[in-house]
Amino acid sequence: MDAERVIAAAQAVETPVATVDVTAMESNLAAMQARANARGLALRPHAKTHKSAFVARRQLEHGATGLTAATLTEAEVFAAAGAGDLLIAFPPVGEMKLRRLAALAERVGRLAVSTDSVEVAAALPEQVEVLWEVDSGHHRVGTAPGEATVAGVTALVAAIGMERFRGLLTFPGHAYAVADRAELARVAQAEQQVMLETAAQLRAAGIAVRELSVGSTPTASWTQAGPTEMRPGSYVYGDAQQVVLGAMTVEECALGVVATVVSTPASDRAVIDAGSKALAADARLSLLRGYGIAAGHQDLVLERMSEEHGMLVATGGRTGLRIGDRLLVIPAHCCTTVNLHPAVLMVEAGRAWWDPVAARGWQAIAAGTPGPPGVVDGATRLGG
Ligand SMILES: Cc1ncc(COP(=O)(O)O)c(C=O)c1O
Repeated sequence: MDAERVIAAAQAVETPVATVDVTAMESNLAAMQARANARGLALRPHAKTHKSAFVARRQLEHGATGLTAATLTEAEVFAAAGAGDLLIAFPPVGEMKLRRLAALAERVGRLAVSTDSVEVAAALPEQVEVLWEVDSGHHRVGTAPGEATVAGVTALVAAIGMERFRGLLTFPGHAYAVADRAELARVAQAEQQVMLETAAQLRAAGIAVRELSVGSTPTASWTQAGPTEMRPGSYVYGDAQQVVLGAMTVEECALGVVATVVSTPASDRAVIDAGSKALAADARLSLLRGYGIAAGHQDLVLERMSEEHGMLVATGGRTGLRIGDRLLVIPAHCCTTVNLHPAVLMVEAGRAWWDPVAARGWQAIAAGTPGPPGVVDGATRLGG
């Protein structure tokens, strides 16, 4: 990212402000698409990272076959932006969500959901296909590879029919907890291996597996064909986590929060106006000893945050910062940082514009995206 250009473009707005260097973002979109194409894999980016109709469209224009969403609101916003092939990689539970899902299924050409439960799958509208989630080591949703998955999918197929079973899905989230690149490579390779072996077992049992959906940003360098599609999400913006994992460089990071120094209580400490309400607090990076990277200030550590305050500490003894100075912080986690902001300032050569983080929810509901009827009325009234 071009931190100077972004800070200059943000001069006209108040801080803290989330910004995206569009040139860096475009280059990330092109690079991941090229990687998927070169390996013969479909790219289905996880669009929860940006929650933006504009960025969703750019991913599709670059060649993504479809998008992944985590929430119904995201899926609704991306469908309205033109996505005709959506995967909701989260089990939709409860009648209100199932009603929204049925309405969404009427609007998109292809819709699938991932789950590890026959109970969840059996309640889905019949136009919705199912990907069975396998636990490749993250220990979140998912049955164990091998026998447990074969048993689950056999029961699934008996309940919803073979045609609606699309295939297997896994997310290697444990890649974020590795000690080094060698361990990261092992996680990525093991992810592929358990998926291929389990698919072979299913096929031997007479069950057709049309899709093997895998992947994440940190493991993307190792994802090969065998699986049919990859679903990285964070790659679009990048963040300090990806830098620490060696998956992206600081230059490749596109998202930053521009903040202003509001206090310099000690020569080695400056306080910025970006705390945990502007920068994600769900990832504190031990290697960085903090919550993000202050671009161009290698000697500064974002050591602590309260809600509105971010405490920058100088490892060299003096911050060199003055009240009113602005700097750009690459957050530890881009997905949760974006979710804190109503809009992101998109910056490219010669222009900047606001891109709403439309799929956060409130905006989507306020803009009339179909939601549970009572909630829309109540929310409108509450908002005056
Ligand atoms: C199911 C699923 N797929 C894909 C992704 C994308 O992962 P990343 O942001 O590491 O690229 C995520 C992220 O949490 C996920 O939960």
